[in-house]
Amino acid sequence: MTTLITGGCGYIGSHTLVNLLEQQPQRDVLVLDNLSNSSETALQRVSELVGRPIELVVGDIRDKDTLTRLLKQNQVDTVIHFAGLKAVGESVNQPLDYYSNNVYGSLVLLEAMQEVGVNKLIFSSSATVYGTPKQLPITEQAPTGGIMNPYGRTKWHIEHILQDVCTAIPDFTAISLRYFNPVGAHSSGRIGEDPKDTPNNLMPYITQVAVGRRPRLTVFGDDYDTIDGTGVRDYIHVMDLAAGHSAALERLSQIGAGFHAINLGTGRGYSVLEIIRAFEAASGQRIDYGIGPRRSGDIASCYAANDKARQLLNWQATRGLDEMCTDAWHWQQNNPNGYT
Ligand code: NAD
Ligand code: WQD
Repeated sequence: MTTLITGGCGYIGSHTLVNLLEQQPQRDVLVLDNLSNSSETALQRVSELVGRPIELVVGDIRDKDTLTRLLKQNQVDTVIHFAGLKAVGESVNQPLDYYSNNVYGSLVLLEAMQEVGVNKLIFSSSATVYGTPKQLPITEQAPTGGIMNPYGRTKWHIEHILQDVCTAIPDFTAISLRYFNPVGAHSSGRIGEDPKDTPNNLMPYITQVAVGRRPRLTVFGDDYDTIDGTGVRDYIHVMDLAAGHSAALERLSQIGAGFHAINLGTGRGYSVLEIIRAFEAASGQRIDYGIGPRRSGDIASCYAANDKARQLLNWQATRGLDEMCTDAWHWQQNNPNGYT
């Protein structure tokens, strides 16, 4: 039996493949990716790291014929669904692209799975579904919604679609992994995060300043109600996040049918200034920065309660902030222009 990985050439997909094939070498995998935000080189490097070829089908999750054929021909029994668009700012200007790739794409995938009888799915959700949290740390029981941008709303809609599918198909199992802030890279420095344009997220922006691609970082606001006024987030090493997927895949059959939302975070928050200082210490590089206005839609603080992941997946993050920064820098230093 085979696991289909949609979006497997991307940042989180590529790291997950490395962890998964190291942990479960007997597993067959197949990647479907339209390469809209990634490079085939990432998958070649994953193959080098794990010492085996990985089949890539270049195609779109919205192409149902391709999907049904792949599911049938490869006897797929599980799907890890990473494919989608993820830039918050872009989603405000191009909402239809986001609803099409993320929501419609997930619908087509679910239709194909239903047609072929594949009933196990792991979905890439996000802490963004919690909107502005009322309590910290955020548990999975916290209310969702009140989301400020189309990207976040696509994740929220897809979670509801998955819940409805689980109600309609009693033996369908969906694990929705709500990621906090993935950062870092594989320790080899061979794979990592490679934003196509100006990075939207803090860590890749910092590494691009460090490597000389950007002159300086703007810190978005220092007047939040936090330890030093800057935003606090739960940064998680991408290899820990990857291990969370392997754990979820291993437990898909025992966890019980239905919809399971599970946070993947460390449970600890750091401010923007703490991240800058940790990165400077880990890399030996000075990060030039200035304080700017708040970014529209940002919240003050966000970090995860991770008891559910510990209980249901027997998983917890093991890598600290120093390792996140060291590995992010190692990747950026070795690949100043990403995969190109
Ligand atoms: P990424 O852009 O690096 O990877 C997504 C992959 O999906 C890319 O390889 C892209 O080419 C592919 N893709 C996009 N649309 C597709 C389509 N219609 N058909 C086929 N392939 C398509 O992003 P990532 O950081 O690896 O994120 C993976 C998933 O996790 C996404 O769904 C994202 O929304 C979610 N997520 C990411 C973060 C984060 O901070 N990186 C946080 C929470 C959730
Ligand atoms: C972190 C902190 C910023 C850039 C986003 C999405 C979320 C998820 C992860 C996909 C905040 C500050 C940032 C910069 C800064 N993605 N910052 N200067 O906003 O927590 O989450 O990515 O699902 O949905 O919303 O992450 O890395 O953008 O920001 O000061 O140039 O860094 O204000 O406090 P965020 P981020």
